[in-house]
Amino acid sequence: MLKKEIVELLNEQINKELFSAYLYLEIANYYGDEGLEGYENWFKIQALEEEDHAMLIRQYLLNNGHAIKLKAIDDPTRTFNNYKEPLEAALEHERYVTDSIHTIYSLAAELKDYRTMQFLDWFIAEQGEEETNAEENIRNYQLFEKNLYSLNKELKKREHTPPSFQLD
Ligand code: FEO
Repeated sequence: MLKKEIVELLNEQINKELFSAYLYLEIANYYGDEGLEGYENWFKIQALEEEDHAMLIRQYLLNNGHAIKLKAIDDPTRTFNNYKEPLEAALEHERYVTDSIHTIYSLAAELKDYRTMQFLDWFIAEQGEEETNAEENIRNYQLFEKNLYSLNKELKKREHTPPSFQLD
């Protein structure tokens, strides 16, 4: 059995993950409306990943004998004024989710709930990746705005070749 406070926070986290899925679907819809199918696809997949996160937490609670309490999911409706704004909103949201996961982890550590700490290790690594992806999306967009995207990709391919002779 897990402690009541941990169960409550994990139940709330299910809601936050499902809201994340909603938010990313909202972003996918925006890009879809704008005819940007690549961005639409990326955020549709991101929404699916968020559902996976919710399901993992759900299963963890069930495996530990706890009931799931689903609550209403907030309205994700957003107004975006340009293509970059959703990318910034995604990064801001991922930072919020990271804080939320860290809060549960801190409480688990305080309560010596090592099982939950171990379970959350994957989420902590995942949040690191998701923030990096969100930052990369913004950086690539900015490069593209400056027509540097392709050139930057080209420069990334450079590999080091050692000199063909050595000096003693
Ligand atoms: Fe499940 Fe993107 O946090």
